[in-house]
Amino acid sequence: MRIFSGIQPTGRKHLGNYIGAIRQYVEGQDRGDPAIYSIVDLHAITVAYEPDQLRTNLYDTTAALLAAGLDPERCILARQSDIPEHTELCWLLSGVCAHGDLNRMTQFKDKSGQQKDLVSAGLFIYPLLQAADVLAYRADEVPVGEDQRQHIELMREIARRFNERFGETLVVPEHRIPEIGARIMDLQEPNRKMSTSVGADSGRVYLLETEKETRKKLGSAVTDSGREVKRGEGKEGIANLIGIYAVARGVSEDEVEAEFEGAGYGDFKKAVADAVVEFLAPVRERYPEIREDEAEIERILAQGAARARELAAETLSDVRAAMGVGVPRS
Ligand code: TYM
Repeated sequence: MRIFSGIQPTGRKHLGNYIGAIRQYVEGQDRGDPAIYSIVDLHAITVAYEPDQLRTNLYDTTAALLAAGLDPERCILARQSDIPEHTELCWLLSGVCAHGDLNRMTQFKDKSGQQKDLVSAGLFIYPLLQAADVLAYRADEVPVGEDQRQHIELMREIARRFNERFGETLVVPEHRIPEIGARIMDLQEPNRKMSTSVGADSGRVYLLETEKETRKKLGSAVTDSGREVKRGEGKEGIANLIGIYAVARGVSEDEVEAEFEGAGYGDFKKAVADAVVEFLAPVRERYPEIREDEAEIERILAQGAARARELAAETLSDVRAAMGVGVPRS
């Protein structure tokens, strides 16, 4: 079973990224043969950014993944831009990716609306590069949060179209979206997903912030005028906290509702804060030491890139041959 996933080196990673994706990466590293995780810096340049900040963010994100438990001996951890096969495959696949399909992508619609100066062509073909990321490794499984569902559907369609047109070459991947926590909502606006790019800081718990900050944000999370710790209509805030608590404690959402039957929102929120602080403590403890050693991070990424390139180069050689591009294979 080959596993692949990507994460952007943008901003600070939050509880949504951790619950929806990162904890699945950690779980996948022993199932994956191999599991490949990519810090996708080339995706991050599709919106306004500062070059120096991009590098800093890349180290921050890589260190956060390592602190979360990714072990470079048990998985491949690589920087997307170190592996030119991703961008080459992106171009080659552009011939079987419909313009109309890219036009339907809801993330493009959302993100293009947020751009002040320029809606780049890169932002439009972003999902095509994402397809190339996965298809270059012939990955079977892609662990992601709910917001990536449409992108995975598109890459499946691209792989199928390629195989129909040029013969069986690519693997059609499956998404792996967690049952609980696939879409962690903003704490202040629980009708919107927790996201780095929209809303106030108070709406998101960062993976790396102080215990005090986390407690404050969870303590002031928006709920409703009711009093029952139960999921239901108009109870998006409470439902979100139930999901977060369930994941942090490793129990089901039904069990959380049973545990807090008759409890007030105040007590429940305090329990959620305790659970989240404990849940994130190991990552927070390990991070500073890992982040400090940039040379070691570069060493890990170089080792990951060398291993990843070998796998991607094999696929690219088959893709080029199937498409009739380049020097014929002997
Ligand atoms: P990115 O960097 O925005 O997010 C990384 C992962 O976090 C998940 N996620 C969430 N899960 C639950 N609740 C939330 N509120 C939440 N917010 C984010 C995302 O679903 C994602 O899994 N396009 C991708 C990066 C990418 C990629 C790939 C992913 C590039 N190539 C190939 C998979 C395969 C992205 O922007 O993720």
